[in-house]
Amino acid sequence: MYDERYNQKDYYWGLKPSSTCSSVIDIIPPSRPLKLLDAGCGEGRDAVYFATRGYSVTGFDTSPFGIEKARRLADKSKVEVEFFIADINEFRLAETFDIIFSTGVLQYIPEKLRQEILGNYKQFTSIGGINALSVFVTKPFIGEAPDSEQSAHSWISGELLTLYREWKIEYTAEDIFDCMSSGEPHQHAMSRVIARKVQSSPEH
Ligand SMILES: C[S@@+](CC[C@H](N)C(=O)[O-])C[C@H]1O[C@@H](n2cnc3c(N)ncnc32)[C@H](O)[C@@H]1O
Repeated sequence: MYDERYNQKDYYWGLKPSSTCSSVIDIIPPSRPLKLLDAGCGEGRDAVYFATRGYSVTGFDTSPFGIEKARRLADKSKVEVEFFIADINEFRLAETFDIIFSTGVLQYIPEKLRQEILGNYKQFTSIGGINALSVFVTKPFIGEAPDSEQSAHSWISGELLTLYREWKIEYTAEDIFDCMSSGEPHQHAMSRVIARKVQSSPEH
């Protein structure tokens, strides 16, 4: 489905970075070289923005059309970003990042894999580094989106925050916003968490 959306000249999500990007920059500014991973980077709007701000960025997405456009955007913006194609459910980190960022993607992880995948991200985050994640959540007063996908599995309110209970929560919010995708007005609820990995004290 995303290949179809991305296989056109215009950038489906536009070029403006996601709202969480500025919070990430405030919380962990690139005052030293910092490695950032954008999991499910789509057409690269956030990955390229972070690279222009001085982060050392890697991004992956399952859509080859998205990755191709992301590479073009990086070239146009004269920044180096390492982009590759991968499925979030199969890919596991084996190197450490200072920032793991993902917006609008974790709903493609089925419930049974969530703890393992986010456990892998947490393990491969540097001490003092952050995970900045946003995911769609179900609410009983918000109906199913007209263009909801079979492969998406919404999270429940608080689920993402709970997975970071032993980290320092730098920011959390649950936003309800209007959406016109598919041409039919509807709403989404999105849970956002920015959590920092802090060294445990010796008695723990
Ligand atoms: C709502 S878009 C968000 C894209 C990007 N994060 C942004 O905000 O511009 C969801 C993205 O998830 C990607 N995606 C869907 N399933 C995926 C999977 N199993 N592994 C990796 N990416 C996936 C899609 O290709 C799409 O780019």
